[in-house]
Amino acid sequence: MSEKVYIFDTTLRDGEQVPGCQLNTVEKIHVAKSLEALGVDVIEAGFPISSPGDFQSVVEISKAVTEPVVCALSRAVEKDIETAAQALRHAKRGRIHTGIGTSDSHIRFKFNSNREEILERAVKAVKFARRFTDDVEFYAEDAGRTDNGYLARVVEAVIKAGATVVNIPDTTGYCLPAEYGAKIRFLMDNVDCIDRAVISTHCHNDLGMATANTMAGLLNGARQCEVTMNGIGERAGNTALEEIVMILRSHKDIDLETGIDSRRIYPISRMVSNLMNMPVQANKAIVGRNAFAHSSGIHQDGVLKNASTYEIIDPQDVGVDSNSIVLTARSGHAALKFRLESLGVHLDKEQLDTVYAAFLKLADSKKELTDDDILMLVGQQRSGNRRIKVEWLQATSGVGIKPTASIGLEVDGRKVEAAATGNGPVDASVNALRKIVGEDTNINEFTIQGVSRGTDDCCKVHMQVENQGRFYYGFGTSTDIVTASIDAYVDCLNKCSEKDEHSV
Ligand code: KIV
Ligand code: ZN
Repeated sequence: MSEKVYIFDTTLRDGEQVPGCQLNTVEKIHVAKSLEALGVDVIEAGFPISSPGDFQSVVEISKAVTEPVVCALSRAVEKDIETAAQALRHAKRGRIHTGIGTSDSHIRFKFNSNREEILERAVKAVKFARRFTDDVEFYAEDAGRTDNGYLARVVEAVIKAGATVVNIPDTTGYCLPAEYGAKIRFLMDNVDCIDRAVISTHCHNDLGMATANTMAGLLNGARQCEVTMNGIGERAGNTALEEIVMILRSHKDIDLETGIDSRRIYPISRMVSNLMNMPVQANKAIVGRNAFAHSSGIHQDGVLKNASTYEIIDPQDVGVDSNSIVLTARSGHAALKFRLESLGVHLDKEQLDTVYAAFLKLADSKKELTDDDILMLVGQQRSGNRRIKVEWLQATSGVGIKPTASIGLEVDGRKVEAAATGNGPVDASVNALRKIVGEDTNINEFTIQGVSRGTDDCCKVHMQVENQGRFYYGFGTSTDIVTASIDAYVDCLNKCSEKDEHSV
């Protein structure tokens, strides 16, 4: 029988640390329940000491899921550990994940300390965490750049202190696969009581090696891997859950297996991408739009003769359903509800009615609606009550004329209008808007992305603005590029004036 690899999902903690990807508690519960259905073994639900919102999310996720272990992050600080334990009090099976930096760089520059003192703090933290639960995971932050001999001493000491899982993060994504694999092997061979704990990988993707490093870790004895959906996470992200799961499924020569129901991968990938406003790159392995699209004639010919010629994974195995119902303006509530539910979105009647109304409007300007389109509509309904609303917008552009825009807003219930010119219709619209709301925000980031294909496509606009030294992220979608851009800007401005939880 194959040995089990535990899937530790940190989409809601490490993944959620990405600026602009923050979810509210209801959204986090939704993701957590989907991860439970996917079959993950551990859900890292948050870092409770970091904010009241994170604390509450860990509390609610602990109540909402029963199968996976719910894990809360803490530093090697008593107050953090106590707070994590408090947040986990409703969990059927709760885990405290505590740890400290062990590389010389962290010891010297972060803690102004020395190796012996850090080792002592690590042991103390684990012993303290064990007062609250039998399931304690220790992380040796920046283990990727930690001297192997010292790392082995730390790992041995924390296992003797009661750690049941030891996480060896390549925090900076620096290691080469052979180097990371050798590190795990070194620990397996040189730590006395290594069989009393599960060794875990946690690899970041700064040099594009997260998945390769995780695999190297598993091949050398690690039996838990820390991953996120779509590989989202700080900077270049974490190891992608879907990649590890499908590597282990595809390579029968590797005698390791996970408990993941792979057919749920694609719908959950799309849901996370939409909730977090984090696009999945088209050529992303397993879940990218082009992951199973064969475009060259030779490949198409081969696939039609026998899919195995160019396909190592059956798209249906990851839930890519090429026969999915096509939704059009003639589709009814039931078809929309069915499609949303197969994508993991469950709406009550009132929410479905609202999304259906938006669906009909979009279907008027677009022949066929894709999964991404309808998930986007669900996302739009999450905007809630806003101080600034766009009432109307008109922009003209073309050859030989100066792009001009006029806009009507409702600001705190008051109707206001303005007009301006610019170097294009988006610029003109933003200039008109700024005449009303002022100029004290700088747009730092502005990206436009088509949702599927074609000139009738919906586009998504992501924007980051800076206001008084703080950054706000906004999002807009529409079949009209100018409308999507202004919606994204207004989203930023509303967040700015609310100073809401989306700011970082
Ligand atoms: O990357 C890292 O080192 C982490 C730890 C906090 C586990 O995320
Ligand atoms: Zn990390």
